[in-house]
Amino acid sequence: MKDPTNDWPAWPEFSKETGENHLDNVLIKKEILAKYGEQALRQSWTKVCQHLAGVTENIAKKQSSVIQEIEYADLSTLPEQKKAELKRTGCFVIRNVIPRSTATEWFEQLQTYVADNKDIITGWPEATPYILKLFRSPTQIAARTHPNALALHRELNSWWHYKSDTKKSFVEPYAYADALRIRPGGVPFYGLGPHIDAGSLCRWADLKYQDTYANIWAGEPEHWNPYDLSIRKDANQAFFPGQTQSTTQAGAGEGSLLLYPDIRYSIAYVLLRPFFQPPAQEKDILDPDKWSFDVEDPYPGPFPHLRLKDCLVNIPTMYPGDTIWWHTDMCHAVEVEHKGKNISSVVYVASVPTTDINTRYMKNQAEDFLKGVSPQDHRGGCYEYDLKGFPGEKAILSGPDGAKAMGLTL
Ligand SMILES: [Fe+2]
Repeated sequence: MKDPTNDWPAWPEFSKETGENHLDNVLIKKEILAKYGEQALRQSWTKVCQHLAGVTENIAKKQSSVIQEIEYADLSTLPEQKKAELKRTGCFVIRNVIPRSTATEWFEQLQTYVADNKDIITGWPEATPYILKLFRSPTQIAARTHPNALALHRELNSWWHYKSDTKKSFVEPYAYADALRIRPGGVPFYGLGPHIDAGSLCRWADLKYQDTYANIWAGEPEHWNPYDLSIRKDANQAFFPGQTQSTTQAGAGEGSLLLYPDIRYSIAYVLLRPFFQPPAQEKDILDPDKWSFDVEDPYPGPFPHLRLKDCLVNIPTMYPGDTIWWHTDMCHAVEVEHKGKNISSVVYVASVPTTDINTRYMKNQAEDFLKGVSPQDHRGGCYEYDLKGFPGEKAILSGPDGAKAMGLTL
C-alpha cells in the first residue's frame, strides 16, 4: 500500500471551487431519477460499493502488477481466458509493438523536428508546454500507420461487442490525429489530474450515452458490458479507447501515467456517486447504506470508495516501442512529479473502430490534413504545412492500408 501520509497533489478536480459544479447537473440527475427511480439507483449503489471493497483491496495490495503485460508477438494467440482478464482490468501494456531501435529513431527525428520549428509550435500549459499542439509530425504519422500498429488496432477494435449490425465490420482502424507529450525531468505538472476522457459529463447528459449505462442505472451493474458498442457507437462522444505509445523510457516518479485498473465498478461508482451524500459520521463513510439519496447538490464531492490514493497506480516502466492501453471509461492521471533524468515522451494514438460517427470525423480530419490545419478536436495549433520538414502524405506507412486509416479514401 502507498504511504497514506504522502501528500495528495493539489489537482484542481478535488476542490469545490474549481470542480465541475454547474446547476445543469441537478436537472440531469432529476431526469435520470425520473427514468430509473430511487430504488434502482440505490440498489446499484449498494452493490457497487460492496464490490469495490474487494476490488480496491486487491489493487492496493498488488499495485502496478495488476496491470498485465503482453508481448506484441503473442497478441494474436492470446487464450480467451487471458483476454477476458485484460478486458476486466480494462488496461494493459503491449510491449515491443514497434522495434525499439525504430522507436528510438522516431524520437530523435521528433526532437529535431520540434527544435527546427520551436518558434512556431505551440503547446500546453503555456508557461512550460509539455503537450505539443502538433498532429502530423513524421513520427506521429508513422506511429499511427506502422503495419504493427494497424494490426494491433484491428485486434483491439474486434474486442468490442455488438448486439446488432452483426454483418457490418467495425474493426478496420482509423488513424486519429492526437497531440504528443515531451516532458523533461524536474518540473512538476498539475494539468492532468484524475479524469475520464471521451465526453466526461456527456455520460449523464447525452441520452444515448446515458443509455449505454442502462444496466448501471437500473440496479444491475453486474450485467453491464463495458465492451458493448450497440448504443455507445451512437453516443455523443467520438473515440474509443485511448492508447499512448512510448518513444522513450519512463517509469514511476518519472512523469508517467497513473491508471485505475478496474473498469466495470469504477465507472459505475463514478456514475452513481452524484446521487448520494456522505453520512455525517466519518466512521460510516464506507457503509453505502449510511449515504443519503440526493439530486439537489450539483457537486459530487469526494469518491472515498474508490480509494484513489491507494488504487490509482503507476503503469509499469515503459520502454521505446511499448504501448499502454486503457478503456475509454477508465479514470487516469499524469504524475505531477517527474524526478527522473530522462525526457519522457509519449505519442498519443487511439484505437478507433469504424463507427459512423468516427467515419464522419475521419473524412473531416483527412480534409484538414490536406489543408494543413489542426484537426477539428484540436483547433488552435499552428499551420503545419509551414513547418520545416513537414512530411505530408510521404510519412504514411503501410501503403493503401495506411492511406485508408488516415481517412484519405473516404
Ligand atoms: Fe486523459
